[in-house]
Amino acid sequence: MGLFTKDIKTMNDLFVHQLQDIYYAEQQLTKALPKMAAKATDPQLKQGFLTHLEETKQHVARLEEVFKMHGAQVKAVDCPAIDGIIEEADETAGEVADKAVLDAALINAAQAAEHYEIVRYGSLIAWAKQLGRTDCASVLAKTLEEEKATDKKLTTLAESKVNLRAALARCTSIIRSLSKHDGRLEAYVSHGAAIEVAACEPTPSSINPFATTPARRAPHRSLRLL
Ligand SMILES: [Fe+2]
Ligand SMILES: [Fe+2]
Repeated sequence: MGLFTKDIKTMNDLFVHQLQDIYYAEQQLTKALPKMAAKATDPQLKQGFLTHLEETKQHVARLEEVFKMHGAQVKAVDCPAIDGIIEEADETAGEVADKAVLDAALINAAQAAEHYEIVRYGSLIAWAKQLGRTDCASVLAKTLEEEKATDKKLTTLAESKVNLRAALARCTSIIRSLSKHDGRLEAYVSHGAAIEVAACEPTPSSINPFATTPARRAPHRSLRLL
């Protein structure tokens, strides 16, 4: 039964179909998340994937609960969207040589999956309420909150350090530490014997948050040395 075929006649059909779709997606994610954790280098990112793996197993169980509450068969239908997101993540990861850049790519891929789930659960909750199934809606809402929280944590991780590490990849410097100072994220980098401080401006959501003033030793094309 496809989403836009005539097999779906009622809102109830649509609700059940989307339950089956997200059930498949969650199952695929329980297979993808351990692989993403294995590829991640940053310890917090690795742990974040493993934590969300445990949550995702709960998401599968909650969907089974909702199927039963609604008197529908527990069943998965192929979801080409999540297959595409996972496939693209695999392809991109295979093309990224530097581990720091790979971490940034993994966060991006994971957020694509989270956003997909957030959209699906948002609609399912609204439809459940419309169908008078507030009991189903409240179970689905628990999952939605975990998806949103995961998405937020991934953004924080990216903006607090992973993107900066990725931007410094392949430069001759070695990052010794990162810290926040006066609202600016600073990277302490070493060049041979010297340790210098590189900083990015506090504009993590901009396309290029890094200052572009030429560096004294040009350790990185987009970093400004203090
Ligand atoms: Fe999930
Ligand atoms: Fe998720």
